[in-house]
Amino acid sequence: MRGVKKIAVIPGDGIGPEIMNEAVKVLRQVEQKFGYSFEFQFAMAGGGAIDQVGVPLPEETLSLCKSADAVLLGAVGGPKWDHNPPELRPEKALLGLRKELGLYANLRPVTLFDGMEDRSTLRPEVIAGVDLIVVRELTGGIYFGEKKRTKTEEGEIASDLLIYHEYEIERIVRLSFEMAMKRKKKLTSVDKANVLESSRLWRSVVERVAEEYPEVTVSHMLVDNCAMQIVRRPADFDVIVTENMFGDILSDEAAVITGSIGMLPSASLGQGNSGLYEPIHGSAPDIAGQKIANPSAMILSAAMLLRYSFDDEEAAQAVEKAVKAVIKAGHCTPDLAASGQKAVSTEEFGDLVAEQIEKAE
Ligand code: NAI
Ligand code: MG
Repeated sequence: MRGVKKIAVIPGDGIGPEIMNEAVKVLRQVEQKFGYSFEFQFAMAGGGAIDQVGVPLPEETLSLCKSADAVLLGAVGGPKWDHNPPELRPEKALLGLRKELGLYANLRPVTLFDGMEDRSTLRPEVIAGVDLIVVRELTGGIYFGEKKRTKTEEGEIASDLLIYHEYEIERIVRLSFEMAMKRKKKLTSVDKANVLESSRLWRSVVERVAEEYPEVTVSHMLVDNCAMQIVRRPADFDVIVTENMFGDILSDEAAVITGSIGMLPSASLGQGNSGLYEPIHGSAPDIAGQKIANPSAMILSAAMLLRYSFDDEEAAQAVEKAVKAVIKAGHCTPDLAASGQKAVSTEEFGDLVAEQIEKAE
């Protein structure tokens, strides 16, 4: 028996509820297979919460997440709320959760699955063997700095402040070195130290911490060059650590390698035990309600939950293996289907993954 665990579940907007159904289905299978007792507690956040209770992140949701062992989140947002004032925007829920739960590290693994070599827009020989992880700083930088807008005689002026404290850099850099030690011992720190002061501080912190990890090969790369190298020679990367906005952009770019953004999970970790797990993609309003969303990123996020919040590598790998096996057997949703290949629905894909877990030795 692996015991009782409380999981806060926030399906969110757009395709969120559709893919969340499949992740919960898969976790139910894990529960049986590995002897857990999961208590799923559903909560609202994002656009749906704005519509129903008038705020993107209700107090009730926040306290539920704080008391849970882990949080699973679909996606929030959509065109319906695009013109809302800043305080009433769905993304406010995400930023609020990250800040309130102290989740400063966002891990975004990018791996190429067997049978998917020809689905990317990049050539198979370029992406062969890709297995990298982007570690994105999540609670500092320009997304959280002071925002201002002033009207002047010459027109409006707008500013966003990019600010980093040394301690914020140090904790994410340390986590990245620890991660590199468990992997290929190769760390690429990405910044824009040729122009940004915050990047120069970032670089000096990396160099200081590096002295404690002599086994790790460290390199510094400017973000513009990194954007190019990620599509030129992605297999050369192991751990990439970078600040908030650079990490956001680089990980979406890296998604191209896997063939679909619907494949990429993420984990957000912090000081406490409670991590937050969500796909890197958004609410995909263009395909919502059509039963064609790829639930892989959501299911693989549940695998990361098992790994990082429940410290259960065996169960995490069982889920990852199941997703791989289903894809290798030729079943995929339309975003990944080769031309002429018959695609499965979101629900069918989830069923197949659950079946694989049940069947596994
Ligand atoms: P998006 O990631 O939702 O969609 C980009 C493209 O990828 C779309 O064509 C979509 O159909 C496709 N796609 C995404 N996930 C997919 C999946 N699982 N299966 C198949 N295809 C998939 O990004 P977009 O369109 O820029 O944003 C849509 C909304 O989502 C916006 O309101 C945005 O603010 C929000 N958003 C929310 C995030 C979150 O909750 N963490 C992150 C990014 C965006
Ligand atoms: Mg993004």
